[in-house]
Amino acid sequence: MAFSLPRARFLGIDLSPRQIVEGRAAIAELGLENIELRAQNILDVSPGLGSFDFIVAQGVYSWVPEPVREQMLRLCATALAPNGLAHISYNTYPGWHMRTMTRDLMVFQTREMRDARARVQASRTLMRGMAQVLAKQDSSYARCLREEAEQILDHDESYLAHEHLDETNQPIYLHQFVDRAAAHGLHYLTEAEYWSMAATQPPELFQAFGDSPLDWLGREQLYDFIKGRAFRHSVLCRADVPCSRTPSARALMSLRITSLVRPAAAGPAPSLDQREDFQNDRGTLALATNEPVLRAALRVLAEAWPWSLAFETLWGRTQQRLASSWGIVAPGYPYAASPDQLAEAMLDAFAHHIVELHVHEPGFTTAISEFPRASPVARRQSAAAPRVTNLRHRMVSLNAFDQLVLRHLDGRHDRRALLAAFQGGIRIVPSQGRPITDPAEVEPILARQLEESLRRLAGGALLVG
Ligand SMILES: C[S@@+](CC[C@H](N)C(=O)[O-])C[C@H]1O[C@@H](n2cnc3c(N)ncnc32)[C@H](O)[C@@H]1O
Repeated sequence: MAFSLPRARFLGIDLSPRQIVEGRAAIAELGLENIELRAQNILDVSPGLGSFDFIVAQGVYSWVPEPVREQMLRLCATALAPNGLAHISYNTYPGWHMRTMTRDLMVFQTREMRDARARVQASRTLMRGMAQVLAKQDSSYARCLREEAEQILDHDESYLAHEHLDETNQPIYLHQFVDRAAAHGLHYLTEAEYWSMAATQPPELFQAFGDSPLDWLGREQLYDFIKGRAFRHSVLCRADVPCSRTPSARALMSLRITSLVRPAAAGPAPSLDQREDFQNDRGTLALATNEPVLRAALRVLAEAWPWSLAFETLWGRTQQRLASSWGIVAPGYPYAASPDQLAEAMLDAFAHHIVELHVHEPGFTTAISEFPRASPVARRQSAAAPRVTNLRHRMVSLNAFDQLVLRHLDGRHDRRALLAAFQGGIRIVPSQGRPITDPAEVEPILARQLEESLRRLAGGALLVG
């Protein structure tokens, strides 16, 4: 964020001096001047810290003792700017009632161990044993505990260490969190993952619970019980900020939009009311719809990716697409399309995690220059691992070749220099036949691969020059 928003200022606080040292090294390497990191206990942070538009506490609230939890909310109340937003993640009940059983078991069985790695290893052995033994029992208790044990084994060791073996892990019900926030003059606004809220679910889901009306909190809490929810990312604001719980489609008209899905078929379905499928980036079906405005808009957005489109632009292009695909030339004939209808469709798509909304366009480029330059943040990450953050703040998994190319995109290598840097370091092994080693044969193949790789990196919002 500090790299992509150079005019914003950032302050990070963590108790661990070692993590702050690592963070400062990254800041120095990237030459960032708009971010400061402090090794400090949240309990010692003074209320006169300043005024912040956003406060983010990810993975902290449930894992710190009660006085720190209270201080976190107190700080949000004092340090949030008048229209500021605080994002706090925490473990929730009822999901954690189940998880607490496996946590209690692991904490008890490893209570004498001092070495963190040994505790994790012993806990994994314990969970494997549990999964095996319980597989032979047929009771709802055994099924439930076995699934918890299997889930723990699916995660990596650091997750197990932090999530299950940490000294403090205090889950909370949503309604308790809302009350605690209110006691500090903070208002529960929404979930950061809006599509995970009860508000986005079909009303029929709640019909089974009788006629007594449920307020928003009653619905949200009930939905946590339906889903067995174990985690939330809640967004708080000052209690005096006027806000509505009903999202307005009109508000969307001042925002920019990107799509998280791609059409499964190349061209639009020939008829107006035909179903079309859209896939997410893992290639699985995310949406099937026969709604013409939505189909046209999602195609327009997919073509614009990685750029977002302002609502106005999207509306203009959607109209053109409706006309060129299905001959819809005037409102009302043969199908009434209006900007309000598009805004409603986009709001519904947002509520189902089909599109994302933005207030600004980050500074990346999709043009591949003579001396391409990748995001220095992603370049730094790619030296350690193939998962990097793009300029849209999304994690991108790179293949080994793209990871190598990205590392070299420092704005000082043209294609010739890039190819020279790779020569010798790369073996081309066709899926059939012998490895290609003759430089005269290797070079054109490598040049083609480089071009494709640059296109992928540009399309992934990873280039800045
Ligand atoms: C799971 S990590 C989350 C780190 C970071 N927020 C993130 O999302 O990657 C929890 C962090 O809280 C820090 N922490 C725990 N107690 C704290 C306290 N009293 N004051 C400040 N930081 C604390 C720990 O050092 C640890 O780095």
